[in-house]
Amino acid sequence: MPATELADLADLGLDEGGHLLVARALARLAPGGRLAVAGRHPALRLHLAAWCREHGHRVLDDDSGEAGAGAAGPAAALVVVKGGAGDRRWLGAVRAGDAAGTPAARADQSWGLAARGALVEAGGPPIGAQWSQREHVWADVAPRLYAAAAAGQWDPATAVDWTAPLGAVPEEIERAVVQIMTYLVENEQAALIIPARLLSQLHPHYREVMQLLATQAADEARHVEVFTRRALLSGGPLGTSSAGGRASLQTLLAEPDFTTASFLLSVLGEGTFLDLLRFIHDHAPDRVTADVTRLAVRDEARHVAFGVAHTAHLATSDKSYLGTLRQSVERRHATLLDTAGLNAEVFDSLVILAAGSWSPEAIRRGWQRVRDLQDRMDEGRRRRLAYIGFPDDEAAELSALHTRNFM
Ligand SMILES: [Fe+2]
Ligand SMILES: [Fe+2]
Repeated sequence: MPATELADLADLGLDEGGHLLVARALARLAPGGRLAVAGRHPALRLHLAAWCREHGHRVLDDDSGEAGAGAAGPAAALVVVKGGAGDRRWLGAVRAGDAAGTPAARADQSWGLAARGALVEAGGPPIGAQWSQREHVWADVAPRLYAAAAAGQWDPATAVDWTAPLGAVPEEIERAVVQIMTYLVENEQAALIIPARLLSQLHPHYREVMQLLATQAADEARHVEVFTRRALLSGGPLGTSSAGGRASLQTLLAEPDFTTASFLLSVLGEGTFLDLLRFIHDHAPDRVTADVTRLAVRDEARHVAFGVAHTAHLATSDKSYLGTLRQSVERRHATLLDTAGLNAEVFDSLVILAAGSWSPEAIRRGWQRVRDLQDRMDEGRRRRLAYIGFPDDEAAELSALHTRNFM
């Protein structure tokens, strides 16, 4: 039987890419079809025999009486008979969902790290992801939020004018700012670890959520940096870290479920932080404090938007999930019942910041402004809880159970 295809390698060796020409020509043949391979490379015969053995094809022997190119090639060509192994390799292969469309409702563990939409050869290692169902991680807004996050990354070195003078800030107000920054840093560290942990257990099929969580962790890394830098700007030591504040954050780290972790951190905690950061911004005694809080608010708004959208997405498809969310708030409240909640020095620092001076009248004003802040925080939490699906009275009840530590 004559060869019907020809691969002419000229002087190209199989050890320098020649196999691509052979494989390309073989792809046009059915198993059993014959390919003439012509070439002048001295090791062509040796290399071709080895490559064919590895890929399940056969090179005809010189003495088989069949060698030679027949109609398709020159008399000196080698002849390869195509085997069936290459095609069998893709038997049982599946598409890992649709690359451009909505992700699958359930991502198979066996898809592993394959790109969404790739043809997945059977037999690879399973991913072992804890969260592999769309409803448990998804929000339709995730792709848009990721795009906004990617476009909104800012450089701490240039986005803040670190040389802006602190000059007129009285020393005791500066101590209050340093205490607040010290508190912010520990909260930001928790807020970094949680999306990073969720990310590590998420099936990568839900790539937009994976990408969004990665940008969220990067945002928090910048917040840790800029709040630390602001705290150090006046050269003094950092403020205090309370056991109660850290206990509150520790409960977030221990939250095992994707949605309840996202709910407690982003809806209730970061939602409350939006008001806190705006408050610090509005009462900032210096340009740097105003800048770092303004930049952080921009990022936090995205974190809150995803938490709210995802939680609402799940609660809409499964009404009973509101009960699970409720329990997560109650459980956390019970765990923290015997702790002090907010560091008293942080509360006092907020009052001093908003007072701006030490006259009794200023302190009364500062105190009232912090009470107003707490009211705004409560209103915000109730609004978000209502959006997720809680009736107003239950939203008010759950908001009141939220940690006194704000985050
Ligand atoms: Fe943050
Ligand atoms: Fe955040």
